[in-house]
Order: sequence, then structure tokens, then C-alpha cells
Amino acid sequence: MRSFKSFLPQSLAFVSQQEANVRPTDQPVTPTTQSVQATTSAKPAGTVTFDNLGKTYHSSAGPVHALQDISLAIPAGSIYGIIGRSGAGKSSLLRTINRLEQPTSGRVLVDEIDISTLDENALVTLRRRIGMIFQHFNLLSAKTVWENVALPLKVAGVEKNEIRRRVGELLELVGLQTKHDTYPGRLSGGQKQRIGIARALVHHPEILLCDEATSALDPETTQAILQLLRDINRRLGLTVVLITHEMGVIREICDQVLVLEKGRIAESGAVWQVFGNPQHAATRALLRTLEHDLPEELTQQLLPEPPAYGRFERVIEIRFTGHADIEPNLAHLSAALGASTRLLHGGVDRIQGHAHGRLLLVTGGVGPSADALISQHLCHQAKVLGYVPHPH
Ligand SMILES: Nc1ncnc2c1ncn2[C@@H]1O[C@H](COP(=O)(O)OP(=O)(O)OP(=O)(O)O)[C@@H](O)[C@H]1O
Ligand SMILES: [Mg+2]
Repeated sequence: MRSFKSFLPQSLAFVSQQEANVRPTDQPVTPTTQSVQATTSAKPAGTVTFDNLGKTYHSSAGPVHALQDISLAIPAGSIYGIIGRSGAGKSSLLRTINRLEQPTSGRVLVDEIDISTLDENALVTLRRRIGMIFQHFNLLSAKTVWENVALPLKVAGVEKNEIRRRVGELLELVGLQTKHDTYPGRLSGGQKQRIGIARALVHHPEILLCDEATSALDPETTQAILQLLRDINRRLGLTVVLITHEMGVIREICDQVLVLEKGRIAESGAVWQVFGNPQHAATRALLRTLEHDLPEELTQQLLPEPPAYGRFERVIEIRFTGHADIEPNLAHLSAALGASTRLLHGGVDRIQGHAHGRLLLVTGGVGPSADALISQHLCHQAKVLGYVPHPH
């Protein structure tokens, strides 16, 4: 049975240990000039704030402005997704949170402490409060599952019995309790990532950084790992910051999302809002992977204008953006569009309880305009994609 305290964010655990007048075993002994542990007061632990952040790399080809004007707050306890095309600056941004990357300008605050002011000891403490998992797991192949998870505790000088207790509870948390003595080479990708997660949690972090943590996994294993991350987020109350190329991952587990484009913020907000009504071309391009394209044979027939003669039909795309004022109602839609209306394809998902989706309909050549569908509150957005000859 895991103790309640083992699930506490580290700063809270620190307070309770102070009350008991016991030094936590995995804290550095040297006093720090500006201790990040002293930040348990007002806000819940695990808040990250970027204040006008910039990062420029200097390469032989000249300066690369990887991040510019990033101002943003990641709330404590949330699951925060970062998306963007390759090279948009996602990893650079994530790595400034634990100072693996030094900003060129601006500040990163963790629980209101400017982390650039931390001295070496305080930086070690900060990094223990921030776990990180990687796409390729970064495990030591010559060490067993147990040893991989125990290593950071050994390095931190944690006492043997405490290591035994902590590693045991973490391997149980990630479902690897029967694999203590197995070497990573004999494990599946999902199991390896579970070790990565257990290892990232050894110091009771308040923040967990995940850079493409599921990209090397098959869809089913991805689901299981996401479930685990969600579970850990809820049970331990830690902030999860997650980079992914898979929009389904964001839709599945994130509360908020940031879209980066060429090092700048394209947009950010609640997932249901950003995904329901993307404002930026970069977001729309990324979300296209979630959508069905028109079937090939229909695309070939699609005309931009109604044909001059012959019977024709219209292909209409309607969208639900998650706002509560409208729910998808097929009876009302077909009453407005006509009985011959067919659903070509599409789907409606629930993101954080909000209906979000896109339907492609083929309907009679004559009927209400796309704007009329919106004004009748049948959908949030509608447009005629084109015209096709009537099949009969
Ligand atoms: N150490 C470095 N030196 C020079 N340029 C770098 C360095 N690290 C990253 N860059 C450049 O900074 C930009 C942002 O890189 P970053 O790795 O943050 O992007 P990313 O969004 O994580 O991309 P991906 O999705 O491919 O992982 C890119 O143009 C990249 O080439
Ligand atoms: Mg990256």
C-alpha cells in the first residue's frame, strides 16, 4: 500500500517533513540561496510561466530564432499540450522549464521563482521537482528495471531502505511489479516507457515533461501510456507538459494546448476551443490529420460552381465547434436540407464534454445556403465544398 505522503507534490511533502523536523532523504544538504521549496504558499505547486521568452541558437549557418515573444502560463495540475510543425520550437520551449536550455531573453518562472536566479544546488532541487520522459526512453540497457529506477535515488544519496520502498511503489504504480529483474532489452516499447515514467517520478516531482513520449509506440500501447499519464496527473496532482505530433493525443488527455509556429505562439487555450474553432492556419494544418478527406472519386467530380445543365447535388461541410449553444441534431438538419440528404462521412467527438466535429453531407442542388444553416442554429460553421452530378 502506498503512503499518502508519497503522492504529495514534493514541496508539500517538504512542509510536512519540516513539521516533523526531519530532512527529506532526497534533498540536497547544502542550504540554497533561493530555495524553490519555499514556494508552497499561495498557488498550488507546479505552475510554469513564460515571460516574454526568446531563444536564439547560433549555428554555422547563422542565428536561428527558435523562440520569440513567448508569454504564457501553464496552470498547476493541468495537462498542457504543445503542438506545432517540426522545427517550430516545441522541444526548445519544453527544455527551458528545467533549464536544460537557457533562454536568450525573457524569463521562465516555476511557482513564481525565476529559475535563472537559482544557484547550482537550487537547480539540482528544481530538476528533481521536474521529471522528464523521452521518445526513446533513455534507459540503461545493462541495468535491470529495478536498477534503472533506483539509479537517480542512489545518485541523490537516498538511504537503501527508502530506495527499496520508493522503487517498489513506483513499479507498482506503473504496472511493472513483476518485472523488477528484467533487462530493458527484453521489454516492449510500452513497458520501457513505463520504466521511463517510474524513473521520472522518483523524486515526487510536481511537473512532468514529456517530449514525444508515445511517438515510438503502437496505437494501442499509446492509449495505455496516455491512460497512465492521465491517472498519474489525477492521483498525484502534478502538472504534465506534453509535446506530441499526434493530435488525437491532445484531444484525448490535454486540458489546454499551445500551438507554436516558427518559434512564436500561433494560438493557445482550452483544447475544445482551439480544436473546435482553430484560428491559425498552422493549427488547421495540424488538425487535418484528424479529419477524413473527401473520397477520391468525389474529389475528381467536384465542381466549384453548379453545372450549367443537368441535375446536380451540393457537398456541404458542417462543423460543430464545441460551444454549448448548438448540439448536433440530425432530424433538424435533414428537415432543413431535405429528405434526400446523405451523410458522406465525418464524426462528432466529445472534447472535455463539448461536441466537436465535422460532417460531410451530400444534399439536393437547391436548398438553404450554408449561411442559413448557421443562422438556423443547426451548426456553428458551414460551407459548400462544391457540386457533383446527380447520381441518377
Ligand atoms: N542546438 C541547436 N543548435 C542550433 N539550432 C538548433 C539547436 N536546437 C534546435 N535548433 C533549431 O531550433 C529550431 C527549433 O528546434 P526544436 O528542436 O525546438 O523544434 P521542435 O518543434 O521540437 O521540432 P521537432 O518536432 O522536429 O522535434 C529548429 O530550427 C532547430 O533546427
Ligand atoms: Mg522536438
